[in-house]
Amino acid sequence: MKELYWIKRTVVLLCVAFWALPAKADEGMWLLPLLRSQQLDEMKALGLKLQDYDIYNPENASLKDAVVIFGGGCTGGVVSSDGLVLTNHHCGYGAIQAHSSVEHDYLTDGFWATTRSQELPNPGLSVTFIDQIEDVTTFVKKELKKDKNPNSMNFLSPKYLNNLAKQKVGEKFLKANPGTQVEIKPFFGGNQYYMFVKKIYPDVRLVGAPPSSIGKFGADTDNWIWPRHTGDFSVFRVYADKNGNPAEYSENNVPLHPKRWMKISIKGFNEGDFAMIIGFPGRTNHYYTSWEVAERRDIDNAVRINIRELRQKAMLEEMLKDLKVRIQYSSKYASSENAYKNSIGSNWAINKRDFEAVKRAEQAALLAWGKEANAPQYENALLTLEQIVSDRKDLRFRKWMLEEAILRGIEFTSVPTDVDSVVKALKGKDMKCIQAQMSSLSNAFHRFFDKNYSPDVDRKISKIMLAEYRRLIPSRSCPEYFDIIDTKYKGNVNHFIDELFKISIFASPENFARFVEHPSPKALEEDPMVLFARSVKKERKALNESLQEFEDGYSLAHRIYVEGLLKMRADEPQWPDANSTMRLTYGQVKGYSPRDCDYYGCQTTLDGVMEKEDSTNWEFVVPKRLKELYAKQDFGPFGLNDGKMPVALCATTHTTGGNSGSPVMNANGELIGLNFDRNWEGVGGDIEYLPEYQRSIIVDIRYVLFLIDKYAGATDLIKEMDIVLK
Ligand code: ARG
Ligand code: ASP
Repeated sequence: MKELYWIKRTVVLLCVAFWALPAKADEGMWLLPLLRSQQLDEMKALGLKLQDYDIYNPENASLKDAVVIFGGGCTGGVVSSDGLVLTNHHCGYGAIQAHSSVEHDYLTDGFWATTRSQELPNPGLSVTFIDQIEDVTTFVKKELKKDKNPNSMNFLSPKYLNNLAKQKVGEKFLKANPGTQVEIKPFFGGNQYYMFVKKIYPDVRLVGAPPSSIGKFGADTDNWIWPRHTGDFSVFRVYADKNGNPAEYSENNVPLHPKRWMKISIKGFNEGDFAMIIGFPGRTNHYYTSWEVAERRDIDNAVRINIRELRQKAMLEEMLKDLKVRIQYSSKYASSENAYKNSIGSNWAINKRDFEAVKRAEQAALLAWGKEANAPQYENALLTLEQIVSDRKDLRFRKWMLEEAILRGIEFTSVPTDVDSVVKALKGKDMKCIQAQMSSLSNAFHRFFDKNYSPDVDRKISKIMLAEYRRLIPSRSCPEYFDIIDTKYKGNVNHFIDELFKISIFASPENFARFVEHPSPKALEEDPMVLFARSVKKERKALNESLQEFEDGYSLAHRIYVEGLLKMRADEPQWPDANSTMRLTYGQVKGYSPRDCDYYGCQTTLDGVMEKEDSTNWEFVVPKRLKELYAKQDFGPFGLNDGKMPVALCATTHTTGGNSGSPVMNANGELIGLNFDRNWEGVGGDIEYLPEYQRSIIVDIRYVLFLIDKYAGATDLIKEMDIVLK
């Protein structure tokens, strides 16, 4: 017996020692101001030829000034003194799609502006530069102390923190710098704070994009897959007013002359060479506890996988039947499929690498350390977290089901529901007021029923979504209005949905026009789509409120847990979870072995595009012109020494969603590619970095240049860039 005890104890201690180890090689999404103290030596040992101030310099322009937030959730790299920005095709997709129609199908055919006046403006799209990054932990903590409520949530509140940021820089500064915004973000669960001074340019124009058969080659089958053969890039230009300040679109705007742009290397690289990426990773969870790992797998990921599988199957059937639907739904389909496959990869890694055990060991290490340090708060924090995850289980499942199956799955849940003022106006006699209200209702209707909406597709999918939702959620936990399905429609979901699409004001432009002609307040108030959507939103609000009660306790305990881990590993550099702030990751260009006796190289070529070609499958069609260039081996200066044309590469860098479009640089800080994906075996790296498995997938800059130059003939763009040949 005693023996067993000692064996057990040794095993536990060994595990604890092992998992309490510092970050694994190549793990980490590092903050730029800390490079010098944290990572520079290791980066140099791996081959970096630059100094820290070449990458990040608070006083002068440095590499970081050539990296931008592209739109809401991607990264871009500035590559010319005239504000040219490279990002991914899938990041520019919304813009390319917005300019596309059946007549000008830029998604299918690609688009290239041959003069600057042909560059296409994109309302709503912006590019953000980060001018300054500052550690403001001491300042924020001092301010937080003024709040006497120990359970105040100010320590994570964006509103509170951004007010502090404004206070810190002063109104005067913001007035003097148009387009500048400041924000303070919490790191390590609210144990540290950084302030970012950002400059946001709202005039960003589309310059060029390859056809989807190149930019999205392999589409959903190849998404999250290495070896990859996608030319996932697009080209934009940032415009500013004549003083170089951010300005809304105007014909008088001029190309922005940025502080810094990147040099581009076409020298190539070898396996093992140093590579680094600067970008804006969105979200990681490497401070999850074991209970959250299980929650993620069994609720979040499981619901998403189940619901999206059903939704996508139905959507794809419709897309394949009709070109118009294909254009309308391509973006919705791609984004749905993207997170779906990510969830599959995430669950694969959680199980295969037993993340629960990894996290349990981490917790055990902290408990042991906390005991020694006489710090019971860490054990309390863990007990709280365990309890919260267990208590919120049911609510969380309902919330995920509602979000995935109903709010995302049923598009008509976004019909205008804010109709009280229209109803009120219609009940009155004031014609002016009625007109104003009706015109705003009409705008809201067109925002919902936009050019990418097909009621037929929505009707079909709604039936499937509603049926699955009702199968898994007991009636008493459904939104109130669902009672109608049981009472009036005797539980017949299909009948219910068909009826909605027949009678609702918002079901078609014809129905809406009829309503506009004879507007009746009663019809609007009692419209079934409005009532359905309202009821769903009410349920979401109720679920969010109930979950919020756990959220505060969670956040307070999480902060203590992370604080404990930081203290326990105080001798080692730690990286904070991604939070859409600028980070650097470094590693090597390197292939990997997905399974026994199998090795994937680090570089793909055009040969692989031709191997995958399948003219009968839309995902793998190769454009004729690309085949001609391939046949002639006409690769200009961009080909490899052995005569092949490089397409993509992979590296051990630690990236996540949001890193798409991020510039990938060599040891000299020269651009060698654009990050656009990871392998699905590596997405678990959002929770635990997997050195043998995780790879960033990158389009080779030589393929990008070859496509711009040889394929599109947009040679002027190439002339604008700084290309290093030797
Ligand atoms: N998986 C990549 C990233 O997460 C690229 C997605 C775009 N491509 C696609 N077929 N959905 O976002
Ligand atoms: N494709 C992702 C993005 O869009 C990158 C990733 O998840 O690796 O940001």
